[in-house]
Amino acid sequence: MKSAAFHLAVLATVAFSVMAAGRHPSEILDTTPPGFSIEAAKATRPSWGFVRHTQQSHNIQKMQGSHGKTNIKSVAAILGAYQRLSGLGYGYQNITPTNAYGTQYATEVLFNGHPLYLLVDTGSSDTWAVQSDFDCLDYAGESIPQIACQFGPAYPDSFQYGATEPAQHMFIRYGDGEIVAGPMGYSDVTLGNITVTKQEICLANTTYWFGNNRTSGLIGLAFPALTNAYLGSGLDHNRGSRIEYSPLFTSMVSQGKVPPVFSIALDRNSTGILAWGGVAPAVGMNTSRIASLDMIIVNMIDRPEASYDYSFYTIIPDGWEYDQTKSTKKHPYIVDSGTTLNYLPPSIAVAINLAFKPPAVYLWQYGAYFTQCDAIAPPVGVTLDGITFWFNPVDLIYRGWVDPSTNLCMTAIANGGAGPYILGDAFMQGAVVVYDVGEAKMRFIHRPYY
Ligand SMILES: *[C@@H]1O[C@H](CO)[C@@H](O)[C@H](O)[C@H]1NC(C)=O
Ligand SMILES: *[C@@H]1O[C@H](CO)[C@@H](O)[C@H](O)[C@H]1NC(C)=O
Ligand SMILES: *[C@@H]1O[C@H](CO)[C@@H](O)[C@H](O)[C@H]1NC(C)=O
Ligand SMILES: *[C@@H]1O[C@H](CO)[C@@H](O)[C@H](O)[C@H]1NC(C)=O
Ligand SMILES: *[C@@H]1O[C@H](CO)[C@@H](O)[C@H](O)[C@H]1NC(C)=O
Repeated sequence: MKSAAFHLAVLATVAFSVMAAGRHPSEILDTTPPGFSIEAAKATRPSWGFVRHTQQSHNIQKMQGSHGKTNIKSVAAILGAYQRLSGLGYGYQNITPTNAYGTQYATEVLFNGHPLYLLVDTGSSDTWAVQSDFDCLDYAGESIPQIACQFGPAYPDSFQYGATEPAQHMFIRYGDGEIVAGPMGYSDVTLGNITVTKQEICLANTTYWFGNNRTSGLIGLAFPALTNAYLGSGLDHNRGSRIEYSPLFTSMVSQGKVPPVFSIALDRNSTGILAWGGVAPAVGMNTSRIASLDMIIVNMIDRPEASYDYSFYTIIPDGWEYDQTKSTKKHPYIVDSGTTLNYLPPSIAVAINLAFKPPAVYLWQYGAYFTQCDAIAPPVGVTLDGITFWFNPVDLIYRGWVDPSTNLCMTAIANGGAGPYILGDAFMQGAVVVYDVGEAKMRFIHRPYY
């Protein structure tokens, strides 16, 4: 099989489009990242009452993270790396980032009772596992041994409730050029102790994939608009044959299993909790410090003929405070557990790094700042909804990331160039992030010291 579709995508241009929903988020921004459109998410259930639901979820599951220099699944991480590398300020191209350290989180999920270890992705919407009889492809679309795709154990069965009728297939291309395709069908999917019945999923039979030998697929937690199912059974993926369906979290809510909210709490050692229908029961939360911000959807829009849409859960912070200084410039930030560092506008990133004692220096080969591993970090906080989330100093210096030639340690604050700006793991470790999809709010519960 050799199809142009399997050659790595080069997106030269990314369209702008701005859609209004009440007060448009672009009105309050000082800049919009080039190459993106922004819109406010729409509440699906105005006022379902988050306050009454700040109680912790009983439906929780553990996530395990792994750091990687390559094979990062987070589109935010990859796109950001490209934007910064290219200096173009817009556009996207397949790259293997060497300077954006990312994290992948995975969790156990059951398909029809069968346990699978799947990546967790808030930037895409399709849920899939690889089937045993799959075709592993190289970059040119040629079949290579399955082991080269480096999946964990494949899903051994067929669809519990059969394939879709008429036949549909998924075709998705992830941010790093990975491609997954296969038939769509229905199965019960269990997350924590919630079973979503008859969920539409894909059992992938054709993949161009760089796995980690542990995970067998992915759960996508974004919106229905980002699902990638198409009529027929081939590999085509033109917009005309696309059939939008209800992705996993949407089904969980519409089946009445949980209120329309999920949350993520990351710990410092690359473990985390994913909680459905409520707040993750994380230690150290200060529930009198809950910030509530409009959920902004930032879209990167592809050329129409290519199958590649991404969207991010994004917020507009009030600004930053660091070392006696306050910046109130408004920029959208993607909240992304798949990115290790925080990517800030250049002037703030540089100022914060200079405020370490001793000051951090930029090491171009990492695209990041490094300082002495026992340096003193300046106070750094991001202000959300009037509440400043001060970083725990231990989150500002990565003592595990030592540059061997200088023995310096990486700081958590990187230069985001023209954007997109990202609040990554180094921020998420200090807050429980609540995706209140029902009210179209992102909420953050501070957990500064735990
Ligand atoms: C499963 O759900 C019940 C209530 O529906 C809850 O009491 C229990 O703690 C949950 N267990 C887990 C492991 O999430
Ligand atoms: C994958 O599944 C589709 C049905 O969606 C089928 O047409 C195709 O032949 C299968 N490909 C492989 C390599 O098994
Ligand atoms: C997966 O296993 C293969 C074969 O044992 C090995 O070469 C490869 O480095 C492993 N990949 C990862 C990401 O651990
Ligand atoms: C680190 O991870 C383990 C599970 O692997 C967990 O039990 C432990 O509480 C974590 N420690 C911290 C400080 O987060
Ligand atoms: C929680 O936040 C409130 C309001 O900012 C503050 O007064 C209080 O000291 C905090 N509690 C803890 C335990 O940090």
